[in-house]
Amino acid sequence: MVVATESDAAKCARLQANVKAAGLSAYVDLWEGDAFETVAQLEGSFDMVFIDVWADTYLDLFKHIERLLRPGSIVLADNMYTAEDAVRPYKRYLDDDPRFSTTTLDFESGLEFTVLSFLKLAKSRLCPQPGHVPCKPGVPLKLKTLRGLSEPHFVAVRCHRE
Ligand SMILES: C[S@@+](CC[C@H](N)C(=O)[O-])C[C@H]1O[C@@H](n2cnc3c(N)ncnc32)[C@H](O)[C@@H]1O
Repeated sequence: MVVATESDAAKCARLQANVKAAGLSAYVDLWEGDAFETVAQLEGSFDMVFIDVWADTYLDLFKHIERLLRPGSIVLADNMYTAEDAVRPYKRYLDDDPRFSTTTLDFESGLEFTVLSFLKLAKSRLCPQPGHVPCKPGVPLKLKTLRGLSEPHFVAVRCHRE
């Protein structure tokens, strides 16, 4: 099931018409209104979330969405290039949080592709590479690969040589 939310009535009507024409009405649940209010009423977890509201609200909305994500959930966000300044707080938040693996896909408008890790990393996690030491407190740990998706026991962290 896809949950869609949009405050513009004309866009909602167009979406309904397109979905009906495609024969997919049974699979799309459109909530006309404010996305923040919609998200506040949602329960459970979502496999994928696509964010394309006004760019300066991405981070705020994402923080409301976080409780609906499960390990392996994917979040896509449009306009990372075309609204670069407005989305910067969102990008920084994802880059700095070790729970997320994130990269900007080089499509025309720039699409942020983010995965919630299977592992909740402790800040003092031991580094798996010989000769390396745990990251210093305050240094954000970063997932380097998406291999955690299929191998939850594997994680690469940024650390430093002694
Ligand atoms: C950049 S447009 C993209 C929409 C769509 N992809 C399109 O091409 O028409 C942003 C859309 O987000 C909607 N929007 C912005 N803030 C919203 C909010 N808080 N709740 C619901 N919709 C919102 C606007 O009405 C607008 O249609």
